[in-house]
Amino acid sequence: HIPVITIDGPTASGKGTVAHRVAKHLGFHYLDSGALYRLTALSAKRKGVDLEDEEQLALLASFLPCRFSRGHVLLDDEDVTDLVRAEEVGVAASKIAVLPALREALVNLQVSFRQLPGLVADGRDMGTVIFPDATQKIYLTASVEARAQRRYKQLIEKGFSANMEDLVKDLTERDARDSARATAPLKPAPGAYILDTSDMSVELAVQTVLDLYAK
Ligand code: CDP
Repeated sequence: HIPVITIDGPTASGKGTVAHRVAKHLGFHYLDSGALYRLTALSAKRKGVDLEDEEQLALLASFLPCRFSRGHVLLDDEDVTDLVRAEEVGVAASKIAVLPALREALVNLQVSFRQLPGLVADGRDMGTVIFPDATQKIYLTASVEARAQRRYKQLIEKGFSANMEDLVKDLTERDARDSARATAPLKPAPGAYILDTSDMSVELAVQTVLDLYAK
């Protein structure tokens, strides 16, 4: 039985950073499931596929020519690591993520990341839909203000422009979309440990997850 730690939570809650560090510490594989939604959105934009065309988007997602290598994300052999993190790509990803056929098309790819010695999976439905039998489930969250500040810092560091007012609006809209959708809505998985990181350092969040897993 291959161990899986799922880390689900709202946008900009720090899941990515925490999940990545936990994976590194344990020598586990890491699945950034949001990147798959972002890659599908980017690919759709480039191919001129409408963001409401569920059938075409599902087709794109089932043959996504992507690779993950040492923290880099490749699409058709092009390094799109920074490009997929752009806010507009995130917004498009969250729009197409409501489409059931598209979500279904990404299931097998996500499940295939479960390999020895183990996996840390980061997303919205890792503990509820993709890995319901996970070894340890975490729901990582933080206040809207804390998340907007983190996202602001992240975007500026990557050389994108950002403003706090727009970010708070974006986060709130995205939270509403992620939680209200009919398929795989964002919510804590049964048995998930709820970790509020509003006033918590990354180090402490990582240690908390490691301690829970070790128990
Ligand atoms: O970085 P951020 O948390 O904003 O986004 P992300 O984790 O990269 O995911 C981008 C979008 O994909 C999210 O806004 C979700 O709507 C969607 N998503 C999802 O529906 N299910 C997942 N397992 C992961 C992401």
